[in-house]
Amino acid sequence: MRGLSLISELLLLASTALAAPSAGCGKTPTLKANNTITSGGKQRYFIVKLPDGYDNTKPYKLVFTFHALGGSGTQLAQGGISSAYWGIPSAANNSAIFISPNGQSAGSVGNMMGWGNRNGEDIRFVDDIMAALSGDLCFNTDLVFSTGFSYGGAISYALACARPKVFRAVAVMSSNPISGCDGGTEPIAYYHQQGTKDQALPYRGALPMRDKYVGLNGCKAVSPDPAPPAGGHVKIVYEGCNPKYPVTWIAFDGDHTPSPRDSGATSTFTMSEIWSFFSQFT
Ligand SMILES: *[C@@H]1O[C@H](CO)[C@@H](O)[C@H](O)[C@H]1NC(C)=O
Ligand SMILES: *[C@@H]1O[C@H](CO)[C@@H](O)[C@H](O)[C@H]1NC(C)=O
Repeated sequence: MRGLSLISELLLLASTALAAPSAGCGKTPTLKANNTITSGGKQRYFIVKLPDGYDNTKPYKLVFTFHALGGSGTQLAQGGISSAYWGIPSAANNSAIFISPNGQSAGSVGNMMGWGNRNGEDIRFVDDIMAALSGDLCFNTDLVFSTGFSYGGAISYALACARPKVFRAVAVMSSNPISGCDGGTEPIAYYHQQGTKDQALPYRGALPMRDKYVGLNGCKAVSPDPAPPAGGHVKIVYEGCNPKYPVTWIAFDGDHTPSPRDSGATSTFTMSEIWSFFSQFT
């Protein structure tokens, strides 16, 4: 009996140590819904959405959500182009804190806000947000995620490349690598959904993003490239990957959208697929 309880105590210790709570656990949050910080000499903005009944002793998951070109963190929080944060918080059921940063003028495409990441400035912005969050909010530093649509998917991919130790997984929606890939030599859990008829950021431009992580994560490539059925989607959970670093790919028969819907379906698969990808990590 004594031996057993010693083992369970040790297991408890190990799981507590593994939870890696942020320094903000136990503190009263000072961050607001809308926040301003200085990053790279510029004023930058991000939205914080705490779970209902936020408990500062509970290390939550932390999910970054990045808007598309011409969007904003506020629009994402308010559900400007689909439901708020693409509906992911309802799947998360108050188990995660959501962070929604504002991009800035992307230059080449006029004055609309995007994630041009010139000289790595948007990666630095995320580093600065992480520093601001760490001492203020309670989250599990091993369960930090990023997702985004279009330009927001591109910056999520750039974070996968540049910060594979900070982020546990990323989920890219309908994107091409237009925010760059500084690094990109280490594995990270990777999800990508892309329309085969994407007219903004083409399907063929997404394939090298996926294939980078199929390779780095040690997965077995699938050939020929799987084609979705008419009006539907095909999902590949790659086999043979290092178990820490799974790769999921969804190709859908459709254009540039964060909310693809199979014909006849009443809602998109986006929120449940992305949340089930993120929530497999504990
Ligand atoms: C953030 O600020 C903007 C404008 O200052 C406002 O319109 C918006 O409602 C705010 N969003 C949240 C989530 O508080
Ligand atoms: C959401 O979480 C609460 C509290 O943990 C739980 O009681 C409830 O069943 C969950 N709802 C869903 C839809 O999973």
